[in-house]
Amino acid sequence: MSDFRRLPMGVDPYKPNSARIYNYMLGGKDYYEADREYAERVLKVAPDSKALARISRRFLLAGVKMAAEAGVRQFIDIGAGIPFSPSVHEVARKIDPSARVVSIDFDPVVFAHATVSSSPGDTPMLADLRQPDTIIDRLAAEGLIDFEQPVAFLIVGVLHFIMDDEHPAEIIAQLRAVMAPGSHLILTHASSDSDSNFIRQAMSATRGSSAILALRSRAEIASYVAGFDIVDPGLAPIQDWLDGDSPTTRVEILGCICRKP
Ligand SMILES: C[S@@+](CC[C@H](N)C(=O)[O-])C[C@H]1O[C@@H](n2cnc3c(N)ncnc32)[C@H](O)[C@@H]1O
Repeated sequence: MSDFRRLPMGVDPYKPNSARIYNYMLGGKDYYEADREYAERVLKVAPDSKALARISRRFLLAGVKMAAEAGVRQFIDIGAGIPFSPSVHEVARKIDPSARVVSIDFDPVVFAHATVSSSPGDTPMLADLRQPDTIIDRLAAEGLIDFEQPVAFLIVGVLHFIMDDEHPAEIIAQLRAVMAPGSHLILTHASSDSDSNFIRQAMSATRGSSAILALRSRAEIASYVAGFDIVDPGLAPIQDWLDGDSPTTRVEILGCICRKP
């Protein structure tokens, strides 16, 4: 059944894992040799991947700051990854110490790290973006999120791991349906406008791993956020969202910060 494809099943130090690869790219310490080797293979074809991971992280935190400044106090970070400082929680709580974050990931490795380092107002949850109804039901039933109030869904660096037959547009639509007016969606997605040599090489390097990507066109990604108000500069390379000095990269990641009217 498609729902359980690529579901990480506990810790396998011999199989590259996207959360640990990302942690390596960010300069963290939570990875195994298989992840480092995989990451180094990716870095050979895409040497800017480390820079891109850091730029993506900056975009995420800029979005959190913007949503918090707009009054959002509930953050739902899906595909949250292994905790890394500065975190969503730290940025949101700097603006308002009452801000709450639920950090969701489908990887038990991430959940274990997040559980060890969780603090008041920062709740880890093991759940799968491909089952948005379950996520919404649990957030409400466990009293973690009040959907009568604005929320921010953070879907950063994860939607391109959802294959076409897992219906990414419907996932976003289901999240949108429960968002109160004033809620935010902070989204990134790898673009099919990325360098074509890189796309070919990355596809062959990631085949069979949990890091396989579904690159999509700008038009398709834009269709996922139709109906939201999109903050300037709109759906754009994430570098465009940040102050001038970010390098351009062969992998183009499009990002947008959206507000539900
Ligand atoms: C590249 S990391 C992004 C981390 C974080 N969002 C950030 O921007 O710093 C991708 C994360 O998405 C998680 N992930 C991938 N597919 C998922 C799914 N279907 N449901 C929940 N998490 C998923 C992976 O386990 C990994 O931790």
